[in-house]
Amino acid sequence: MISGYYSPEFFCDRQQETAKIIDALHNGRDVTLIAPRRMGKTGLIRHVFYHLRERQPDIVTLYMDIYSTQSLGDFVRLLANTVLGKLDSAPQKALSRIGKFIRSCRPVFTFDELTGMPKVTVDVAPSEENNTLKEIFEYLGSSEKRCYVAIDEFQQIVEYPENGVEALLRSYIQFLPNINFIFAGSRQHVMQEMFISSKKPFYQSTQLLTIGSIERAEYSRFATDYFKKHGTRFPEDVFDAVYDKFAGHTWYVQCVLNRLYGYNCDVDNSLVGYAVEQIVSELSYLYSDLLKGYSMGQIHLLKAIVCEGCVKEVLAGDFIGRHRLRAASSVSAALKKLVDNELVYRSDSGYIVYDRFMGEWLRMQLFDIVFYILRYRVRLGITNRTSSLYCTPLLLYLCINNNIDKDECR
Ligand SMILES: Nc1ncnc2c1ncn2[C@@H]1O[C@H](COP(=O)(O)OP(=O)(O)OP(=O)(O)O)[C@@H](O)[C@H]1O
Ligand SMILES: [Mg+2]
Repeated sequence: MISGYYSPEFFCDRQQETAKIIDALHNGRDVTLIAPRRMGKTGLIRHVFYHLRERQPDIVTLYMDIYSTQSLGDFVRLLANTVLGKLDSAPQKALSRIGKFIRSCRPVFTFDELTGMPKVTVDVAPSEENNTLKEIFEYLGSSEKRCYVAIDEFQQIVEYPENGVEALLRSYIQFLPNINFIFAGSRQHVMQEMFISSKKPFYQSTQLLTIGSIERAEYSRFATDYFKKHGTRFPEDVFDAVYDKFAGHTWYVQCVLNRLYGYNCDVDNSLVGYAVEQIVSELSYLYSDLLKGYSMGQIHLLKAIVCEGCVKEVLAGDFIGRHRLRAASSVSAALKKLVDNELVYRSDSGYIVYDRFMGEWLRMQLFDIVFYILRYRVRLGITNRTSSLYCTPLLLYLCINNNIDKDECR
């Protein structure tokens, strides 16, 4: 599966992580879940909720992804839509409780055709946002039901223009005895700052959990068994090659497995190569378009990082020298932009190109010719004007048209 969560049958491992989260929630501890993008945070939250509901069918699990919210007002509206009406077993009770608690704005009720439960949307005036937020938390706290709320992409609240959002949320969240929260996020440093820094309102208020790649042996068993059940062979060493190519990064491995499964035949290394090539070529237009917004120096650095896989010290002289990058100060500025825009990720072992398919695509590109022309343009008699006129189009041309492996061309 490459999107959503279906059931434990389609979910690989994460047993320890699942047990830890369930244990924390059962014992009244909130959880902060941190992992790079596409590692499986949302899937894990869904998996945990699935097991919680199996054990205690009468609990309520609520999930909200705040990635698209830009302000406290957006947050309040999304929270209202996620929460209101979900904590009451009978529609009548929901209506009366919402009416009792939500007074600062007018909720609009509709009924879910399948479940008959009321669906509530609210229209919050900007001047009433704080009041509505308070009322929603009062509504949550007054329920007799045990409830678990997951707020995904939680680091987004740092971007809101209003001051003191963290303190405001913390002040409500800490007084809800029947509710526990999972705060998930991918911006490791922002999330850590929020929950580890003693200056921050959420300081040490939750149990921290980070997740990495699924363990190779478990993943291998999961994948090969799955193919076996459907009558095709997927040798372990071939799975290992897929796992290594993407360092076990869940979504990328899943995408390749999904393609391979679709071919409906025995898998070998050349089929894996074909699947990766197909995926990358479908994405290549997107990547070349994306790179239009970046300077030569930034693209050069990106390519240098991808060539090495993982770079501990980007500003080290030998790395800069090996890849003929510019001065450390401009490499540092380029690195900042790439990290800020999430093209490069700082993992515990060093800097990596975040999007593994983009990494594969970059590996295939012949940027070196363009970098060479740019670097030696003065000696080659190319003026700034001509190089800016021709080199960028040349680079983009290469990006779009060139699928030849660099090493093959040497
Ligand atoms: N344990 C797992 N077993 C099988 N597939 C998984 C597992 N975890 C995640 N996946 C697959 O990887 C995809 C990406 O996972 P998920 O959306 O949970 O990642 P994420 O960390 O929330 O990503 P993002 O940061 O982009 O929100 C899922 O749609 C699912 O297909
Ligand atoms: Mg997610």
